[in-house]
Amino acid sequence: MSIDLSALMACPRCAADVTPEFKCKDCDWQAAWRGGIIETVDEQSVHVCGSKVKSFYGKSPFPGYADSEDAISLLDKGLANPFIRALDAIIPHNASVIDVGTGTGQIASILAFRGEKRTVVGVDLTLEQLQEAERFREKAAMQHPFLVRSDLFALPFKSASFDVVISRGVVHHTQDPEEAIRRIARHVKPGGIVILGYYDGIGRLTHRIRRAVAKIVGHPVVALDPVLGRDDLDAEKKANWIADQYNHPVEHQMGLFQVKRCLEETGLTWVRSVPPFPESGNLAENTPDPGRLRAWFIQLGWMLRVTDQDAGLVCVVMRQAES
Ligand SMILES: C[S@@+](CC[C@H](N)C(=O)[O-])C[C@H]1O[C@@H](n2cnc3c(N)ncnc32)[C@H](O)[C@@H]1O
Repeated sequence: MSIDLSALMACPRCAADVTPEFKCKDCDWQAAWRGGIIETVDEQSVHVCGSKVKSFYGKSPFPGYADSEDAISLLDKGLANPFIRALDAIIPHNASVIDVGTGTGQIASILAFRGEKRTVVGVDLTLEQLQEAERFREKAAMQHPFLVRSDLFALPFKSASFDVVISRGVVHHTQDPEEAIRRIARHVKPGGIVILGYYDGIGRLTHRIRRAVAKIVGHPVVALDPVLGRDDLDAEKKANWIADQYNHPVEHQMGLFQVKRCLEETGLTWVRSVPPFPESGNLAENTPDPGRLRAWFIQLGWMLRVTDQDAGLVCVVMRQAES
């Protein structure tokens, strides 16, 4: 089956439609091909934070692939993860999905592999991250996901063009997390879902204390970090974790109510936050809309999860109103 990605795209300069060759119909903008990756970044307009972030991930691809990783092992690993399993379960088999800040494309690859008729697009600013994703896609002999190099502040896609918009672990690494949320969320269709993973300021408090201790003693303390204490992770994975969690050049934290408000400004309504996972396993199951106070209690619950392997990375799920 051949999918015309250009139908979902818009010129990042003037917002006009683009041709199947990814050329703007109105101005002289055109995307380039870089070994399987659609290149749309205008380097001159990337913010200094974006430059720092892409040079950081260029040196430490995250999350990495094991040499032995293939489509089946990635799928097994993904489906063993309750979040990814629940995510896959709410995405129809013919849905259009965009993963903004896809990194090495693991979530996008799993979702593409699970739904042959899905249109899955993985977008990232860091070329080296996408090259890892492309190497894996070739090795696994997969046609999708589409890999697009783009700054999330200049996404080459139409507004309201995707059924599902995912962005996990990205907005807090940008110069303006609130604006990043708005830019990402506007690509969801009426009735579609946004899944946004961010570092919660209170939820990440335990990790911030760990990081302060690491600064004082000069290195991360293995006994304090549930990821570094794991026997099943090799030295390279642990080194990447240390780089990402202890030495990242750009990191902000947000609050649950703040994230919810940004998404509401884009017309979305509350579905739930994760953790906890819904007992039904249905990530799209509605929960009561938290006001400021309840949001704060949810965050407190996250803070108390001291053995949390995600170090305060939490998710908010919201839905765009039907038109
Ligand atoms: C921690 S990784 C998250 C990877 C993936 N979402 C996951 O959950 O495994 C953060 C990614 O965000 C990307 N990123 C940061 N700023 C970006 C921007 N302005 N536009 C697009 N991608 C960006 C980085 O290049 C990096 O690959």
